[in-house]
Amino acid sequence: MQIYLDTASIEEIKKAAATGLLNGVTTNPTLIMKEGRDFKTEISEIVKILKAHTDDFTVSAEVNSTEWKDMVKEGLEYAKWDKHIIIKVPMTQDGLIAVQEFKRRKIRTNVTLCFSPNQALLAAKAGAFIISPFVGRIDDAGASGMDLIGQIKQIYENYGYETKVLVASVRTPTHVRDAALIGADIATIPYKVFEQLFSHPLTDKGIAQFQADTAAYHQKLR
Ligand code: E4P
Repeated sequence: MQIYLDTASIEEIKKAAATGLLNGVTTNPTLIMKEGRDFKTEISEIVKILKAHTDDFTVSAEVNSTEWKDMVKEGLEYAKWDKHIIIKVPMTQDGLIAVQEFKRRKIRTNVTLCFSPNQALLAAKAGAFIISPFVGRIDDAGASGMDLIGQIKQIYENYGYETKVLVASVRTPTHVRDAALIGADIATIPYKVFEQLFSHPLTDKGIAQFQADTAAYHQKLR
């Protein structure tokens, strides 16, 4: 499963990219505004950081327009900045028209704010490169986000759709584990969750024990 970071924080992206385990970054208007910098500068710097580690990655840049012609105009501009930039488009009728326009121009898209299997079906029919179902927000609303991932996987398998399933709105390491068990293509995760994936209390305990035993042995030799 590919791991993306769901952030626009340069510091977090640098730290995660340095592990060599990062396959991409997703941003959204909320995350970009949090950083308080010019959009092009922000996205270009994210691309530059990832490029220093790999050539196989994507950075999702989201359009703000709601009408498809304006979405296409915005996206065409973003796509000029770098070939790794893919255009994040909201899951609306206009959004899916824009997706088809981008596809005709060989520009990849990430259809965002997906909350139902039917939305995912339509996004795949439109030719989305990625569909982003928001599991955390579905859980928050009292349903099961992971059930949706399973249903989308099933639909895509039934018809051989190549659209990648990206598990978004991840809140916990359990979401990441479940995404991998279901066979999602990608999980995009906050930096805090990324860090949590590395640790287990028994790993820490085991390292401490090995170090103590090694130190005790050398002490005895003195
Ligand atoms: C996905 O690409 C979105 O940026 C993100 O996962 C939204 O997550 P949230 O529900 O934590 O805002």
